[in-house]
Amino acid sequence: MSARTDRSRRSCLAVPGSSPRFIAKARGLAADEVFLDLEDAVAPDAKQEARRSVIEALRSGDWGGKVRAVRINGAATSWAYRDVIELAEQAGRDLDVIVLPKVSEPQHVTWLDLLLGQIEQAMGYPAGRIGIEAQIEDALGLAAVDAIAAASPRLEALVFGPADFMASVGMRSLEIGAQPAGYAGGDAFHYPLLRILVAARANGLQAIDGPYAAIHDTDGLARAANSVAALGFDGKWVLHPGQIAAVNAAFSPGQAEYDKAELILEAYQHYTTVEKRGAAMLDGEMIDEASRKLALVAAARGRAAGLARTQSFGPPA
Ligand code: GLV
Ligand code: MG
Repeated sequence: MSARTDRSRRSCLAVPGSSPRFIAKARGLAADEVFLDLEDAVAPDAKQEARRSVIEALRSGDWGGKVRAVRINGAATSWAYRDVIELAEQAGRDLDVIVLPKVSEPQHVTWLDLLLGQIEQAMGYPAGRIGIEAQIEDALGLAAVDAIAAASPRLEALVFGPADFMASVGMRSLEIGAQPAGYAGGDAFHYPLLRILVAARANGLQAIDGPYAAIHDTDGLARAANSVAALGFDGKWVLHPGQIAAVNAAFSPGQAEYDKAELILEAYQHYTTVEKRGAAMLDGEMIDEASRKLALVAAARGRAAGLARTQSFGPPA
């Protein structure tokens, strides 16, 4: 079993599972992932009907190559087991990944992993076909994030949930994903974000940021997305079609960064093999083995996004 941690997840669009109209609209949008929500965007009395709509939507139709995800209800709720069984049995061939919310201990992931394994066997799907994204969104989950990130080979990504997290730690703000007014210490989310990122990378997983709820505040959204992209995250949730373009742009590699990464790789190869030097100067900057590692990451991102080089290295005469 090997999880797919190479899927593009720059923008992950939340769509209430109880709204067939929003689901139909989501098919044609430019988000990398669509997740049909059975959890907090669906009222308790609408859960069963939403499950049926989501199954129907997955089975019928073209999602244009997007990652097809469903957020089920949390492992501590009475809805969760039926969410998994009905979804995986009835739409398991058309479902890429389950988003598990409110993961506060590794056992939540283990439970989902085992249940999916049983259903895959019974249905004759390939083992490990359905992946897992784990939402880290409370104090317990963040404290256990390293164990959670290692809990299943199905895990593809860790996802920060700012709304539930803000509630869990008592942050004094009602603006989801925005900096709390009055906080004077820099980025209020730096600690959970970096902690999630390190746990994800230590286990070969992607790291995804959660929503920015003020859908008309495009500047605020772009600031939040650019900041978390600079930190190293792979993508961010979007709650509205109008948020997709800015978020895709924030997580797409830039041409200048890609060119520079390829130049560093080429120059470093030249200096180490032809000139047999471990460190050298490139355009006024020292490059060495650590620069090569950093450049490999940026070059891989650019190549995966289909960028082409616009410069090449010429050794100084
Ligand atoms: C998302 O689930 C959040 O709690 O922010
Ligand atoms: Mg949440």
